[in-house]
Amino acid sequence: MRPNAMAALVLISAALIGDSGLAATPKPLPSKHAKSGLICFDCHRNENPTQAAVAEESCMVCHGDYAAMAAYTKHLSVNPHDPPKKKDHPGPFPCTDCHHQHKAPEVKCLECHTDFKLKAPL
Ligand code: HEC
Ligand code: HEC
Ligand code: HEC
Ligand code: HEC
Repeated sequence: MRPNAMAALVLISAALIGDSGLAATPKPLPSKHAKSGLICFDCHRNENPTQAAVAEESCMVCHGDYAAMAAYTKHLSVNPHDPPKKKDHPGPFPCTDCHHQHKAPEVKCLECHTDFKLKAPL
């Protein structure tokens, strides 16, 4: 077998193994939350959640409220947790608009501020 074909096979089987892993754990969490042993109830207030509904108060139990997060990241040149409080400026956004959990994070601010160098960790 050509090395390329071999590599392709390895990739395919890795993808298959990955898929069956996903099936066993339907809603994987980002690594830090998984390692910290968070359970569904911590965020969903429900042992067997089937819906997205997550109150951001759930995040705040462990991470503090918006003011606390704004203070925590105030050293950054652009603070993602402290958008301008002007009337015509959007935000603050719900924590989960950026930190999605079961899918890759995003940074809402970048929809308008394409020049901001911000990357959400999880
Ligand atoms: C750290 C907080 C957190 C934990 C822990 C968590 N979730 Fe979620 N979950 C969310 C957030 C936030 C959303 C909404 C995502 C969005 O709107 O982008 C969500 C969405 C969902 C959804 C609906 C959307 C979808 O992707 O289908 C299901 C179902 C779900 N979670 C199941 C679970 C299960 C099952 C567990 C436990 C294994 C779990 N969640 C643990 C935060 C969490
Ligand atoms: C039960 C407590 C708990 C809840 C609820 C919780 N977290 Fe966490 N979170 C943690 C712990 C513990 C860590 C890992 C801290 C570390 O390893 O530095 C963490 C890590 C994080 C990080 C990454 C920090 C880093 O330094 O990379 C983000 C972002 C985060 N959480 C956001 C959220 C959001 C958003 C929610 C709500 C959807 C949430 N968390 C709910 C306990 C919690
Ligand atoms: C507009 C997008 C956005 C929203 C909304 C948001 N965050 Fe973040 N968050 C970020 C970004 C970007 C970072 C990375 C900051 C950096 O570069 O250190 C971050 C970092 C964090 C961290 C890790 C801080 C560290 O340096 O250890 C935690 C914890 C966290 N956010 C929790 C929250 C919580 C709780 C909320 C809601 C109260 C929230 N975030 C709302 C974008 C967001
Ligand atoms: C829907 C578009 C939009 C989004 C999303 C958005 N902004 Fe803005 N932002 C603007 C506009 C337009 C201005 C300039 C007008 C003003 O000052 O209100 C601005 C101005 C700012 C300024 C002042 C900078 C300057 O040079 O005057 C900061 C800081 C800022 N935004 C941070 C943020 C952060 C942090 C987020 C995410 C949490 C965010 N913005 C999300 C549209 C947006």
